[in-house]
Amino acid sequence: MLHKNLAISDDNHLTIAGFDTVELAKKYGTPLYVLDTDTVYENCVMYKTLIEKYFGEGSMPLIASKALSCKEIYRIAAKAGIGTDMVSGGEIYTAFSAGFPMERAYFHGNNKTDKDIAFALDCGVGCFVLDNNEEVEALEAEAAKRNVKVRVMLRVSPGIDPHTFKAVVTGSVDSKFGVAIETGQALETSKKILGCKHLVFEGFHCHIGSQIFDYEPFATAAETMLAFIAEVKKETGYTVSTLNLGGGFGVRYVESDPVFDYEKALSDIADAMDKCYAKYGLTKLKILFEPGRSMVAAAGLTLYTVGSFKTITGYKSYVSVDGGMPDNPRYALYQSKYTCLVANKAGDEKTETVTVAGRCCESGDLIQEEAPLQPCERGDTLAVLVTGAYNYSMASNYNRLPRPAMVGVGKDGDRIIIKRESYEDLVRNDI
Ligand code: LLP
Repeated sequence: MLHKNLAISDDNHLTIAGFDTVELAKKYGTPLYVLDTDTVYENCVMYKTLIEKYFGEGSMPLIASKALSCKEIYRIAAKAGIGTDMVSGGEIYTAFSAGFPMERAYFHGNNKTDKDIAFALDCGVGCFVLDNNEEVEALEAEAAKRNVKVRVMLRVSPGIDPHTFKAVVTGSVDSKFGVAIETGQALETSKKILGCKHLVFEGFHCHIGSQIFDYEPFATAAETMLAFIAEVKKETGYTVSTLNLGGGFGVRYVESDPVFDYEKALSDIADAMDKCYAKYGLTKLKILFEPGRSMVAAAGLTLYTVGSFKTITGYKSYVSVDGGMPDNPRYALYQSKYTCLVANKAGDEKTETVTVAGRCCESGDLIQEEAPLQPCERGDTLAVLVTGAYNYSMASNYNRLPRPAMVGVGKDGDRIIIKRESYEDLVRNDI
């Protein structure tokens, strides 16, 4: 199977972490997100162990909230002893209300409002990753008002092409994120931070993109960042203590995707950095990473019930399911590839080629086109694999469809971790 937590039972049913997905669909209804929480925990520990091994004590992964934010995720991250990256008041509130140790929370975003800044300080967020001059000024003003010192990092764009799809490239010079090294603006903003009495300048951050399978752009970004840190030292006399290299490691969605070796990626980066430390006469920094997709994607899958069929002679065959772009907008947005299978016929050969459609009034509401699938009929359970990242977190209520429930499976058994929305929930804020 695509990932080691997936298997086929003696009944020919798809299982995740040993749980029968057909039974889960029956018990909890569909559409249903399933999250293998033990795999999420193992991934947190795997990253923590490897990052400490290659970058030394104090170096740490921060799980990227945007991939999947819910209380259970923060409880898992807290238990694993890792940090988190968050980009909104909503993510901060979710972590805070789950009891996450907020000193390990890093607040990102390219447009933090005054309200966000005040809220983050109220919640005890440990470090602000500042994006631009306006944020530097706004945070300094709020910190001065409160008479507190705040740890900060500066997001810079290193100008790296990560070879992935355009929508998720973030580290190029022409980007809405961060300040560019190339134009001299990153140095200027660094000086500005150093001039702020209430900001403790910890270091720099970069994130080059997402779903990257090449190893070399990560090492190149790290080298570029160290060269820049050396330049800042030369220009200002100040050496930062921390470098945050963001997220972006690739995940296998379909058999034809490569297997990404996380240890190789990290050790390649460490090797490249060791050479730079010597070259620039820098002492080793504390290194942070922000894996999102590779923490949670393969831990999740979505279950639907098959409804209607349409074979348009000379064109396509459609299989419609009881969810769609509101619970998984990634095909509509990016034509993302997914593996689909009929969960109650999981071991059967995929002899059909179908388009899996959702039930929204929108022709682009597709989960996958030209997908190989087992022959199926109304009432079958259709599984879409590797949906743990950027599915629930990007879900909407389009067509007033309630968001599905999420069930956690693992050593703690199967239990609801996010309740299914009700029609009442949908009108809760309507006046
Ligand atoms: N750190 C920062 C600052 C980021 O912007 C991101 C992702 C991450 C970490 C986590 O990256 P990951 O390890 O998940 O690749 N909605 C898109 C993905 C957008 C990613 C945005 N930033 C998708 O569904 O593919």
